[in-house]
Amino acid sequence: MKRIYNDINLASRNSFGVSEKARMVVEFDSAEDLKEIFSAERPDKWYVLGAGNNTLFTQYYDGVIFNPKASSIAILGDDGEYVDLRVEAAYDWDSLVEWSVNNGLWGIENLSAIPSSVGAAPVQNIGAYGAEVKDAITTVEYFDTNKLEVVRLSNKECGFAYRESIFKQELRGVAIILAVEMRLCRTPRPNLGYGDVIKEVEARGGATLQNIREAICAIRGRKLPDPKVLGNAGSFFKNPIVERGVADRLIAEYPDMPYYAVPNDEEHIKLAAGWLIDRAGLKGYRDGNVGVHQNQALVLVNYGGATGGEVIALSKYVSQCVKEKFGVEISPEVNLL
Ligand code: EPU
Repeated sequence: MKRIYNDINLASRNSFGVSEKARMVVEFDSAEDLKEIFSAERPDKWYVLGAGNNTLFTQYYDGVIFNPKASSIAILGDDGEYVDLRVEAAYDWDSLVEWSVNNGLWGIENLSAIPSSVGAAPVQNIGAYGAEVKDAITTVEYFDTNKLEVVRLSNKECGFAYRESIFKQELRGVAIILAVEMRLCRTPRPNLGYGDVIKEVEARGGATLQNIREAICAIRGRKLPDPKVLGNAGSFFKNPIVERGVADRLIAEYPDMPYYAVPNDEEHIKLAAGWLIDRAGLKGYRDGNVGVHQNQALVLVNYGGATGGEVIALSKYVSQCVKEKFGVEISPEVNLL
């Protein structure tokens, strides 16, 4: 079944809460719905919107927005140690994390409280507190709008990297994700190496799934604004990956600057965009309806009534200030339409 809405305001469909309109929104339940639409007449411009947590509409969207609605969860296999799941795209990400924690299954607990749908999670390989969703995903199933058939990709074929996947590259404008398969496990494997996580977990009595989830929710709650209260899309910018020489120069000048190794890459270093924006003096900066969040400079917020254009103007200003002060380019993590 599909439901079609014409000339519709997207304010309630994006976590920034910006009031831009789209020519058409299509809510669909199955691959058959998509096959019907794409075989009748392929839309010239289209986009897939999950829960709308990582998309900024900067203007009227003169195209078709596909919004998956199927949200079942099924256990495909359980050998006593590993449990294989298949979860459809519209399932709420954090409800899945809660379900896994309640069922004693390890693997995605560090990804607690990330606002996302399950279908959107592999697109930018959501990650937090030393974990990335790629470490749990076994298969992604999508509708191929060129071949008009369902395709399954193995984890390796998804091309996962930091906030990256094939769905942002070759399959952008081709794939509509239908379901994600994951493997979780029963043997505890706490991953507490990032920042304050270990301290918060110990304060709660040790590394149980429940304590880890509570600790992560508490840390996130302190730093990241709740989109239901203050419109935002989490980190607006990616942490920039720069040549080692650039990092060395900055570390010499700013010895307190945080930086991280890039796995399997000696030549590059990852910097913290939040720190760069903060040290450019922009944390808490406000321009009319939009601003840089006061507790986490990576997050741009809508104080109410902002247009996408205002957010994008602020993001350009922030990038420009960081470039002028540090000579480093930061680019949006959020999808801009
Ligand atoms: N920092 C500042 N000022 C700020 C923000 C950060 O000085 O305003 C410093 C922090 O003190 C720390 C460093 O910058 O030394 C890194 O900050 P933080 O640990 O808060 O994490 P992050 O690198 O800013 C990333 C993800 C988040 C994720 C956290 C925790 C990206 C773009 N962001 O942020 O993901 O929750 O790590 O793992 O990789 C998201 O993608 O929407 C998101 C929230």
